[in-house]
Amino acid sequence: MNGKRILLIIGGGIAAYKSCELVRVLRRRGASVRCVVTKSGQKFVTPMTLAALSEDKVYTDLFDLKDEAEMGHIQLSRQADLLVVAPATADLMAKMAAGIADDLATTLLLATDKPVLVVPAMNVRMWDHPATRRNVATLRADGLTVLDPDEGPMACGEFGPGRLPEPEAIADAIATQLDPAAKPLTGKHALVTAGPTQEPIDPVRVIANRSSGLQGFAIAEALAKAGARVTLVAGPVSLPTPAGVNRINVETAAQMAAAVDQSLPADVAVMVAAVADWRVDAAPAKLKKEAGPPQLNWQKNPDILATLCASPQRPHLVIGFAAETEDAADQGAAKRLRKGCDWIVANNVSQDPMGGTQNRVHLIHADGTENWDRMDKAQVAQQLVQRISDAFCGN
Ligand code: C5P
Repeated sequence: MNGKRILLIIGGGIAAYKSCELVRVLRRRGASVRCVVTKSGQKFVTPMTLAALSEDKVYTDLFDLKDEAEMGHIQLSRQADLLVVAPATADLMAKMAAGIADDLATTLLLATDKPVLVVPAMNVRMWDHPATRRNVATLRADGLTVLDPDEGPMACGEFGPGRLPEPEAIADAIATQLDPAAKPLTGKHALVTAGPTQEPIDPVRVIANRSSGLQGFAIAEALAKAGARVTLVAGPVSLPTPAGVNRINVETAAQMAAAVDQSLPADVAVMVAAVADWRVDAAPAKLKKEAGPPQLNWQKNPDILATLCASPQRPHLVIGFAAETEDAADQGAAKRLRKGCDWIVANNVSQDPMGGTQNRVHLIHADGTENWDRMDKAQVAQQLVQRISDAFCGN
């Protein structure tokens, strides 16, 4: 970040206090930071604090004639290498999405010709509100990068997505913005499914499979490291969420299908989950073993991968997995055509890679099959993400 100039716009939310730390982190990494605080932002942090931390003048007012004489707002918005809005409130994003310019911050954002990184923070219900969802989608479609907020306990006492990411994580995202070559998937949304699904038989019993989630989580992590915004739809596994990944926990195939649908649009989808093929009509109360083996009414689960491939919102690149116990490469090639996906990663599970840390896979695409060496699942993930990056960068 050495020598890079960042214009930090601070909106009015309790998370504004973290912007003070962000200024310090960015300066420690070699960037210079100039701050603009909205009127409501000044209720949470004072211009004097920010001036001391940034060692620069802090800008607050569009109609400060002295500033216009010294430096016009157009110049201010274009002198920076990157504009960062943190915290971005629901109100500020709504104005940005609508092109409203009624104060210094919004005027700068409309006048700039520089990349803009938006870091939202708000109450979980405000984040989930359809109006905010719409505004975030508009900003992303306009080419701005909008980070997903962190999930956790909030200052308002509620729990969920809405927290401002930690300053170090925001600084990482800023570094990525400033050096896109280091992160080839910057600006891309990657959707990953991972782990098993569990289909209830009754309140205490489930139908499940042996998927550990390791391979899917490794892929989500590698995608995030390559700069993608990653949504990970995870079945029941006890793995930690990789850094920078937005995780949606589900149990059943139906819940996984709904979460995938709600996470669209995406540029690339990697469907690693071992989805249960069948579910049963779950009994509302625990089945008694004295009653003998239960009669289970089996029903087919939705094929999430095939549905995604046929969807009008089909991602540009869709990758499926095929776990086979024999003829993995041949079965995988047939599956690629049957499901309508671009690539299939096929592996032989007869030596139990489900749960193991290594995997030996075949990558099957329209031009044929590549047989990869046995390697760690993390390496499979890195190699696959390299191929995904090449596909987007035209290599
Ligand atoms: O048909 P099969 O289960 O072998 O297909 C495996 C691939 O399809 C994997 O990518 C898996 O995530 C996906 N799949 C799915 N929904 C299902 C079954 C499989 O998305 N119901």
